[in-house]
Amino acid sequence: MCARSSRAYEGYSMKRVEQAVTHIKNAIDQKTILEVACGCAEFSISASKFAKQVNCIDLEGKRLSPAWETVPNMQFDIMDAANMLFKSNTFDTIIVYNALEHIRYNLENILKECRRVLRHDGNIYIISSYKMDKAIIEEYLIPILKENPIDFCSDIVPPFYYIRFNSMFVPKETPFT
Ligand SMILES: C[S@@+](CC[C@H](N)C(=O)[O-])C[C@H]1O[C@@H](n2cnc3c(N)ncnc32)[C@H](O)[C@@H]1O
Repeated sequence: MCARSSRAYEGYSMKRVEQAVTHIKNAIDQKTILEVACGCAEFSISASKFAKQVNCIDLEGKRLSPAWETVPNMQFDIMDAANMLFKSNTFDTIIVYNALEHIRYNLENILKECRRVLRHDGNIYIISSYKMDKAIIEEYLIPILKENPIDFCSDIVPPFYYIRFNSMFVPKETPFT
């Protein structure tokens, strides 16, 4: 998506990402945030206008927008989201934006790592406008959250599907004996 160079396309794309950033602005404003599987990092760049500090990671840097170098409160690192080098309990908010299909093969491990580096009072947001990701949310992500069990909530504001959850395990109900 980000490889396209048309200015008109970039403008359209940024408007979309700004819509997503605005939707979760309370979780970004003056917060320390991490974007996982950031690709071109358009979410991080847009969020950096409000966040205190933005970290973003990807397995590779080839999609990364050169614009990130001009953002003072942003740090990009090549890192596997399933094996992060960050300390536990570091970030106020973690975002996965339009990347679910690419991390599906390792979703459980990545979610586990996200919850480890998330502060205890923080939230993880999975956000996507992709049709394919919506199917993955319903067929893979929600069953994982229910199985663990993790309290989550969802919100659909077209074109985006938002899922939010935190680092707390919801204790399974003790069977009534
Ligand atoms: C659809 S692309 C980019 C999505 C990005 N949010 C964007 O808007 O450009 C998904 C990205 O996930 C990255 N990725 C896949 N597995 C990963 C992993 N285990 N750790 C970190 N990044 C990963 C890929 O390298 C790719 O850049």
